[in-house]
Amino acid sequence: MLRIEGLNTHYGNSHVLHGVDLAVPQGRICALLGRNGVGKSTTLRTVMGLVPPSCGRVLLDGTDIAGWSPHLVARAGVAYVPEGRLIFPDLTVIENIRVAERKPARSWPIPRLLELFPPLAERATNRGGTLSGGEQQMLAIARALVSDPKVLLLDEPSQGLAPLVVRELARVIRLLCAAGVTILLIEQNMKLAEAVADEMHIMVKGRIVYAASPERFRAEEAQIRTRYLTV
Ligand SMILES: Nc1ncnc2c1ncn2[C@@H]1O[C@H](COP(=O)(O)OP(=O)(O)O)[C@@H](O)[C@H]1O
Ligand SMILES: [Mg+2]
Repeated sequence: MLRIEGLNTHYGNSHVLHGVDLAVPQGRICALLGRNGVGKSTTLRTVMGLVPPSCGRVLLDGTDIAGWSPHLVARAGVAYVPEGRLIFPDLTVIENIRVAERKPARSWPIPRLLELFPPLAERATNRGGTLSGGEQQMLAIARALVSDPKVLLLDEPSQGLAPLVVRELARVIRLLCAAGVTILLIEQNMKLAEAVADEMHIMVKGRIVYAASPERFRAEEAQIRTRYLTV
């Protein structure tokens, strides 16, 4: 479904991604972990076309979309929920979703999204800025789904959320996967990543250095943590 091969990305002279290889099979959830600043967000931004790669391929169902502009990547079936959510504070919940709707959604029409996220249904006419962090995250995901993506890129969705809300987020991520959405998830919250992911990947300095099932990851977690994840 989504296959990243030898991806290199620079910001000016700064070489951030050094040959990222990562495959997210159809209908699976892959978690991408790693310390701050290793290039996780840059990977998603490069896939989305927000930063041009210097070389490498991004294959979506076999088509190389590397370097396409973001609206073409979106049209090809990739949706992106950035770090920090970036919802419009002055637009209502419904308006926040509608701005992302290019044509009436087939898989995820607005009534289905409101069913999926009951708190958003209750606040449909409230302004985005008045929502809690958890509700804003749900809204950001709803806004991404309205484009009927094949692949969903989530950048640290649990950031700043209370444990109970993180559990709700895990439920939603699993449900989306069960509905056929392929997901690449960046997380700092290892519990969430382990709970939802089919495969765990760790990035160090712009390269994937470790990939394993959550079971193997859990068994090796103590060493992995000190080696790759803690500061
Ligand atoms: N727009 C930018 N311009 C220049 N350097 C950037 C930019 N965005 C990120 N970086 C740098 O690229 C590196 C990787 O950043 P990022 O992908 O955001 O890491 P992560 O998401 O893993 O924390 C960091 O050193 C960061 O400072
Ligand atoms: Mg980041």
